[in-house]
Amino acid sequence: KIPKLTLNSGHVMPVVGMGTAEYPSIPEKMKSAYLDAIAVGYRHFDTASLYNTEQPLGEAIQEAIKLGLIGSREELFVTSKLWCPDNHPNLVLPAIKSSLKILKTDYLDLYLIHWPVSVKPGPPSLPLKREDVVPLDLKGVWQAMEECQRLGLTKSIGVSNFTSKKLEEILSFAKIPPAVDQVEMNISWQQQKLKEYCAKKGICITAYSPLGGQFGANSVLTSDVLKEIATAKGKTAAQIALRWLLEQGVSMVVKSFNKERLQQNLEIFDWELTEEERQKISKIPQKNKISIERLLTKEGSLNSINISDLEIL
Ligand code: A2P
Repeated sequence: KIPKLTLNSGHVMPVVGMGTAEYPSIPEKMKSAYLDAIAVGYRHFDTASLYNTEQPLGEAIQEAIKLGLIGSREELFVTSKLWCPDNHPNLVLPAIKSSLKILKTDYLDLYLIHWPVSVKPGPPSLPLKREDVVPLDLKGVWQAMEECQRLGLTKSIGVSNFTSKKLEEILSFAKIPPAVDQVEMNISWQQQKLKEYCAKKGICITAYSPLGGQFGANSVLTSDVLKEIATAKGKTAAQIALRWLLEQGVSMVVKSFNKERLQQNLEIFDWELTEEERQKISKIPQKNKISIERLLTKEGSLNSINISDLEIL
């Protein structure tokens, strides 16, 4: 039911997935939301070692198979991400193996570098301590990501929170180009420059915070332009926000812990925005919320690294 797009790796990905991050993440609540999502038709799930949701997602997948909601793991597209303390060439393989173990699966569909930031090895924590930030060996880490794909631990590899400048750097040495760049994208942070760059290079954008949720611009569902269009079309503001992304040619991961809203967010495939509506949305004032500053402690010094190298804007 959900359309799929073909990544540059040749693998297909459902264009809408479910985001799994939630703070705090309560395992039983998470698991039941993921089961609801599978029941209403989601086949693409986005997790990360940072989120603490790999375990409940793994359990939900096992349970969904047991309940007959899906026939096998292969019917799902599962993404996970490499967190900053593992952003070192020799720690990538152990990190993906740990994710696979917690997810109780023997492969990922997509493995992403979560941020172009490396910190000293250690357990996951947020915020990152400024003094723990170290220069990122992007080439070494990417080669290790490529090795994960060659070994069959993941079908595709990609990045998250990368600017076009950082993508350019990866493409200069990559044997396997990134299949995906997952970034904040919504009507309040439209990413036109990155969108054009990625389209030219055959990299698929996945939009996170499509509704401006917890980590996003927070001004999506309250936008008067969106509400006006929604009323005129008999849709919800959320559906307009998601349909707009779809018409930008990108994929998205959207999050809800409510079964009706999960379902509502999939009802975006059999109608479209008019040119006039698209024009109105393109004029919405832009303000993104996600920058590396939000990941770092306020105090402390940045250890041997220039903050502007980390900026995703
Ligand atoms: P809830 O779990 O109560 O549905 P994002 O995916 O941009 O991070 O946004 C997620 C937030 O948007 C969640 O807080 C979720 O709350 C809310 N949300 C998801 N779908 C809808 C919807 N259709 N209408 C209103 N709010 C929604």
